[in-house]
Amino acid sequence: MGALEFLKGQHRTFREFFKKLEDERDPREQGRILQLLIKLLVIHTEIEEKHLYPRLKVANDELRELVLESLQEHHVVKVEIDEIEGLVPEVETCRPRIKVLKDLVFHHVDAEEQVVFPLAEKACGRLALDDIGKELEIETRRLEEKGTRLLITIMREEVRKKSGV
Ligand SMILES: [Fe+2]
Ligand SMILES: [Fe+2]
Repeated sequence: MGALEFLKGQHRTFREFFKKLEDERDPREQGRILQLLIKLLVIHTEIEEKHLYPRLKVANDELRELVLESLQEHHVVKVEIDEIEGLVPEVETCRPRIKVLKDLVFHHVDAEEQVVFPLAEKACGRLALDDIGKELEIETRRLEEKGTRLLITIMREEVRKKSGV
């Protein structure tokens, strides 16, 4: 599968999970969906940062600028995940936090799909994107085998490094 189709598939899953979270009334089930969503978000940002963004960054000036912006948006998403992870959905502040995370994620994936990906398609070409797609699939599988806790620990390290804490 091409890289962009693969990533769009994961974006669709985010949208579905956020919708499920909003509709679900059972706190235990909400907690379960939230954990799955967080795991996928961590994996998604990781694979984009390792396998797609570096290629786009060197493609042209416009993409370089967009990638730098995207990395900053990923960072903000991770900071939000860092705060939400571990909260039980019954906690009063959990719902507003999920709402903020949803707005951030939706804004980011819309920008990717409407602006970044079409430019990536032009700059990289079909063959290169197919190769990147294979890497994304393999890396997703590899990371899915890791526990959520370990992924969050890795993510937290990155967030702290970037925040200079
Ligand atoms: Fe992204
Ligand atoms: Fe994405």
